[in-house]
Amino acid sequence: MEGFAKLGLSSWIIEQCKQLGICKPSPVQENCIPAIMEGRDCMGCAKTGSGKTAAFVLPILQKLSEDPFGIFCLVITPTRELAYQIAEQFRVLGKPLGLKDCIIVGGMDMVAQAVELSRKPHIVIATPGRLADHIRSSNTFSIKKIRFLVLDEADRLLEQGCTDFTKDLQVILGAVPAQRQTLLFSATLTDTLQELKSIAMNKPFFWESTSEVRTVEQLDQRYILVPEKVKDAYLVHLLKKFQEAHEDWCIMIFTNTCKNCQILNMMLRQFDFQSVALHSMMKQKQRFAALAKFKSSIYKILIATDVASRGLDIPTVQVVINHNTPGLPKIYIHRVGRTARAGRHGLAITLVTQYDIHLVHAVEQQINMKLKEYSVKESEVLKILTPVNVTRRECEIKLECTDFDEKKEINKRKQLILEGKDPDLEAKRKAELEKIKKQKKKFKEHIQETMQKKKDSVVRRKQKKNRLRQEKKAAKSQQ
Ligand SMILES: Nc1ncnc2c1ncn2[C@@H]1O[C@H](COP(=O)(O)OP(=O)(O)OP(=O)(O)O)[C@@H](O)[C@H]1O
Ligand SMILES: [Mg+2]
Repeated sequence: MEGFAKLGLSSWIIEQCKQLGICKPSPVQENCIPAIMEGRDCMGCAKTGSGKTAAFVLPILQKLSEDPFGIFCLVITPTRELAYQIAEQFRVLGKPLGLKDCIIVGGMDMVAQAVELSRKPHIVIATPGRLADHIRSSNTFSIKKIRFLVLDEADRLLEQGCTDFTKDLQVILGAVPAQRQTLLFSATLTDTLQELKSIAMNKPFFWESTSEVRTVEQLDQRYILVPEKVKDAYLVHLLKKFQEAHEDWCIMIFTNTCKNCQILNMMLRQFDFQSVALHSMMKQKQRFAALAKFKSSIYKILIATDVASRGLDIPTVQVVINHNTPGLPKIYIHRVGRTARAGRHGLAITLVTQYDIHLVHAVEQQINMKLKEYSVKESEVLKILTPVNVTRRECEIKLECTDFDEKKEINKRKQLILEGKDPDLEAKRKAELEKIKKQKKKFKEHIQETMQKKKDSVVRRKQKKNRLRQEKKAAKSQQ
């Protein structure tokens, strides 16, 4: 217990930690907590499952207990499920304080959120889009006086990926005071360091765990080289094998699109697996319900898109299967980090097609270790190949009969409206752009064709000249 006391935390916090089984500070906590207690900005980069959440929650609770007011701290995180998880940590650890928290995420009732915000909670945990909406539309709350701003999964928040948070983040940064403590955490901070430093302006304390390998030591990382068409049969085979050998194992499967996630879930259920899906095309209530079922081990298999790849802490996860090879090493690091957390062992298997080998090489280079092959009896997989592929096709047809694609279109339109754009105008603009692109392509092809023709005619002329010259020569020599 001496460990946490040495970091300057009060005995009530240490007691709360003990109740959660947190007895000795992890390296990220040991290094970052004193700097945060001193009032410094902090950037902490440590492996998945190494306790980064408590590294910011504990000192914030300590400071809050010394001078409690609302809104004291704002935590921003990229996904809704992660916001709930962080709130839970604050709630449990801050129980003796009578901590009031408030979760502001999309997909939930905005009016109820506005009421909660106006009641000055101590801690607000939010996803960027919904909080920015509240800031733009309401004057019943203020984050002008917050002491702490935390960006968990900070690099993701700054990335311009498929969900671009940068505009919403600008709105939020414009609404918080310049005088504040900024805390930035992730398992993959380093490639966004410069952008992050501009947010943590106050000469931040930077701590990064020194380890050659960027993934967890207790994680067994494997790959299976499979042709695309046999992937699902391998997946079904692996799941059968794991569930036969270890009844209590929980398995997370990551896939690339919402549609694929949905189809895989339908398919696995046809094979009597107890599985649930988690992706952004689901209603928020369904998302929470699916995660709750998986967390409580009622369902042992969770199939998810990358909406679940960061931050989620589910200690029962023994295996992570990448149904597709992640396009970025960073995504790989976070996905496989859903297992082997807090010193536990875990297994990660990536299904790799012949077209993805370069992606595996990129992952290996980044994490600084080679993945090992996972051996599978191919004959056993081939036995189930036909039924698996037929079932998948049936599920695809079933899904096509629903409004899944239509919903996707509606969601896209909603997003455009939220961004202040006219979806019809955008569609027109897109079609025009497409037309221009096609015209450009045609023009390019026409030019290339003309050039080729010219080249051909030059070659032909040269050949003709040569031929004539040779004929003349031959005629001369005959004379
Ligand atoms: N000092 C500690 N001793 C033991 N367990 C701890 C300690 N600190 C945190 N934990 C536990 O470790 C688990 C992982 O912690 P946490 O979710 O904070 O990891 P993380 O570093 O944020 O990982 P990720 O990068 O995936 O978000 C949690 O269940 C947490 O309760
Ligand atoms: Mg985390």
